[in-house]
Amino acid sequence: VTNAVAAASEVPAATPPGAGSAAGIFNSTVAGFAIGTAWELGALDEINDRGGLDWSDFATRHDLDRAATDSMFAALSAVEVVTRQGSRVEAGPAFKEVYDAKAFFHWLTIGCAELFADMPTVMRNANRVGSFYRRNPVAISYACRDINRQAFDPVFRESLEQLDVDFASVADLGCGSGERLIQLAKAYPGLRGLGIDIAASALRDAEVSVRAAGLADRIQFAEGDARNLRPDPRFAEVELLTCFMMGHDFWPRENCVASLRRLREIFPNARRLLLGDTARTQGIPDPAKPVFTLAFEVAHDLMGAYLPTLREWDEIFEEGGWKCLRARPVEIPTASVIYELA
Ligand SMILES: C[S@@+](CC[C@H](N)C(=O)[O-])C[C@H]1O[C@@H](n2cnc3c(N)ncnc32)[C@H](O)[C@@H]1O
Repeated sequence: VTNAVAAASEVPAATPPGAGSAAGIFNSTVAGFAIGTAWELGALDEINDRGGLDWSDFATRHDLDRAATDSMFAALSAVEVVTRQGSRVEAGPAFKEVYDAKAFFHWLTIGCAELFADMPTVMRNANRVGSFYRRNPVAISYACRDINRQAFDPVFRESLEQLDVDFASVADLGCGSGERLIQLAKAYPGLRGLGIDIAASALRDAEVSVRAAGLADRIQFAEGDARNLRPDPRFAEVELLTCFMMGHDFWPRENCVASLRRLREIFPNARRLLLGDTARTQGIPDPAKPVFTLAFEVAHDLMGAYLPTLREWDEIFEEGGWKCLRARPVEIPTASVIYELA
């Protein structure tokens, strides 16, 4: 009996379990963690740059547990992100698409891990008081850096090139990793930057990155809540405001109107606000949700965080004291846009 059981466990499945099967869903869940991990450990970049790697050698070079490394690649192979032959790992049929979306997986499985793990607790009304959920702000900043690079940055650069006002000082609201300010300071010599974020841990990381880039004399940081900033002498010189992937934190509507108005008061010399964000989608059938959308919307509902639709955004600027000059669409994530507000 023991031998028969052992033999059965070694028989390969004739066809891989499809996405609609329990095994397919189960394996995809494990693979989601493996994708975020393989990216953070450098495996996805190495496979992308060199076409493949030797997992045993990879484990040695990165001082990783051998069995865990082998299993991580097994999880990737289960969903055809890679193929495996002996210790050789190569890009599989799903690699390219998953590589482009790697930061979304990381955001979900590493940045939002605790939120989803606590889903049964978080959903109970009795528990939804105070700080009732936890996420990992440093991991979220890490993922956002890549989401920006792929999705928002090309459209952001276009927005800057077409701005019809000069700016010598910029403040980035919800600056996270500080990457936007670093890129701006590199592109615009002499530009001064101020990063504002509510998460002290993200700011500590951002400061390290700014020092490493040799830009500490031009980029500073302030811990604060962008919804209700306290006056700071540094705010008076700011001519351009940027705010990416946090604008929805200004909502619900009444609060957002108040925050937008307050930004005008507290940054009296800001000529433009470039606001890039992802909105709640409408009307996409559940089985047709594109990558990220489902996770983004479920996470915000779990957190009790309002997520406005694009229509709701369009209808708020005037009341908030800003004039929308342009709305530039961003392809991925679905329902993303950069507003140029004056
Ligand atoms: C999704 S991340 C985006 C980070 C960065 N803007 C980027 O484009 O990579 C959102 C950031 O906004 C910050 N944040 C959220 N609510 C905030 C608030 N009310 N005031 C200031 N920062 C906030 C978070 O701590 C986090 O660093």
